Amino acid sequence: MKKLTMMLMACLLMSGAFAQSSPGAATAARVQTLRGVDIDGPEAPSDNFRNERDARALPRDFVQQPPLIPHTIKGYNITKNFNKCLDCHAWSRTADSGAPRVSITHFRTRGGTELSNVSPLRYFCTQCHVPQTDAQPLVGNSFKPAAGMR
Ligand code: HEC
Ligand code: HEC
Repeated sequence: MKKLTMMLMACLLMSGAFAQSSPGAATAARVQTLRGVDIDGPEAPSDNFRNERDARALPRDFVQQPPLIPHTIKGYNITKNFNKCLDCHAWSRTADSGAPRVSITHFRTRGGTELSNVSPLRYFCTQCHVPQTDAQPLVGNSFKPAAGMR
């Protein structure tokens, strides 16, 4: 009986989906960005941007800012078992790679325990550190660095 109900529900859902994708309904709505720009129009944000060239470390704008990544990270995968960033940034690797070591703050757990390697809290580097591209900012920004950082 349960199975039959499930099948009936599936049929109902599917007929709903077909009704929505019928040609009549599709022409009615144009696809727009959240700010109301037509995605096919001339003002649409471009997703065709280039990574900045590898450079020296970039200035920081506020205390505790995760430094920006001054190099491309194309193909640098971070998975549960492997972290490409640590290939160069782990303390054991920096002598050879010449990369700055991950900050010592990255060994601390949420509870304040110091671990012998990068804490799970800081494992997914690109959660905080971002690479740079030539894409135009989506919104304006009038942020000024704090006095001590100028
Ligand atoms: C092939 C080696 C290599 C890999 C892999 C690598 N980096 Fe780097 N990274 C460097 C080097 C070298 C520098 C220093 C650039 C300079 O200052 O001249 C650097 C600089 C940085 C900085 C700037 C630090 C500062 O003090 O401003 C950050 C942040 C960073 N990398 C994050 C990452 C992240 C996140 C990943 C993985 C997605 C990654 N890196 C992968 C070599 C690497
Ligand atoms: C939760 C956010 C967060 C994550 C995740 C994170 N970082 Fe950071 N990182 C920071 C902040 C904030 C700073 C600057 C303050 C500090 O040193 O803690 C920093 C500093 C750094 C620096 C500069 C160290 C120095 O001495 O100037 C490097 C290099 C770095 N991180 C690499 C990494 C790598 C590689 C990973 C991934 C394994 C990573 N970070 C993950 C927030 C993060």
